[in-house]
Amino acid sequence: MDNALCRLTGAEFPLFAFSHCRDVVAAVSRAGGFGVLGCSSYGSHELEAELAWIDAHVDGKPYGVDILFPATQSAAPGMTMDDFSAAIPAGHVDFVVDLLDWHDVKIRPDEVIRQRVPPTAPDEAERLLDIALRHPIRLIANALGVAPPLMIERAKAAGVPVAALVGTKEHAIKQAKAGVDIIVAQGGEAGGHCGDVATMVLVPEVIRAVAGLGAPPVLAAGGIVTGSQMAGAMAMGAQGVWTGTVWLATSDAETSPVIREKMIAATSSGTIRSRARTGKPCRLLDSPWHTAWNAPDAPKPLPFPLMPLICVPALNKTLRAAEAGVEGAFKLATYESGQGVGLIESVKSATAVVQDFKQEFAEAFEQFLTQVGV
Ligand SMILES: Cc1cc2nc3c(=O)[nH]c(=O)nc-3n(C[C@H](O)[C@H](O)[C@H](O)COP(=O)(O)O)c2cc1C
Repeated sequence: MDNALCRLTGAEFPLFAFSHCRDVVAAVSRAGGFGVLGCSSYGSHELEAELAWIDAHVDGKPYGVDILFPATQSAAPGMTMDDFSAAIPAGHVDFVVDLLDWHDVKIRPDEVIRQRVPPTAPDEAERLLDIALRHPIRLIANALGVAPPLMIERAKAAGVPVAALVGTKEHAIKQAKAGVDIIVAQGGEAGGHCGDVATMVLVPEVIRAVAGLGAPPVLAAGGIVTGSQMAGAMAMGAQGVWTGTVWLATSDAETSPVIREKMIAATSSGTIRSRARTGKPCRLLDSPWHTAWNAPDAPKPLPFPLMPLICVPALNKTLRAAEAGVEGAFKLATYESGQGVGLIESVKSATAVVQDFKQEFAEAFEQFLTQVGV
């Protein structure tokens, strides 16, 4: 394809694949799509190793990175792990221990808090940015609010286009004014952090809103798992699509088999928008984890980035127990997933998913031409 977005990023087929898994990123880019590595769970050394691996396996095809770089910092520079731990009330730790216990998963109070400074802490996010810019990335994305000037300036100086995820028209206007090159209009169907405006409404609304602000290319995101949906989004004026959930169910992804099984079984009603994973509204597979945190007598989820610190060890333990056959743990297990999960029927390779997208896109396009009588 040949549109402004493809020229800007080097994508052959503008199917952008967000994944935390380097294998998915490289496979999608090799197949003609555009892999984007989510860096939220990597420390600096790990990110360097992941990007070096992608460079060696991507056959020179373009790829990008996504860094959680908040514009306003929820953590002060230099905060240590002790500072983060001290901000977590004992009642929250006890609640996690009990919640797991009700589902036959054991966790000690001293295991509840993840011992790692959140990567969104300002100095850590900046370190990740420096590392990413030393690699031949063709896009850098930011999910948390307006990309800070530091990120935009450094990326532009390195000739790397900046993308930003938005869930409302107002956010899109702020991003376009801040100078981002690509807007990802992510509807409330999406897996992970999301707003509540549906993709079908948000995409044309955002395109219209940024038309007079340099008209940056807009990618449609949220609930998109097929090539026909991609064709629909592009018929609305999007220059491509940005996807996440569909790659979690691929054989290339590091997703737990438990989550894959739950994803294949889930319908589009099987997800929930909940604060009980990161402290921000986030769409995940529904499970008793969310029911428990939403109960009137439960402690309120902590603000981001504290909530992930008490969720990661507990949910990882839950997954390991579910993989070992503990029934309560299987029920409790949850993971970021969008409503498009209802359209995922089997586990395929990431390469096969890109091929399916291309074929379904072509078929949808043909069907459209037939319907309009061309
Ligand atoms: C498991 C998972 C984790 C995610 N983490 C991030 C993240 O760290 N940064 C980000 O910009 N978007 C993140 N997202 C959102 C994706 O970038 C993408 O916008 C979203 O998945 C698109 O909707 P879909 O899941 O319906 O395809 C995540 C999505 C999923 C499914």
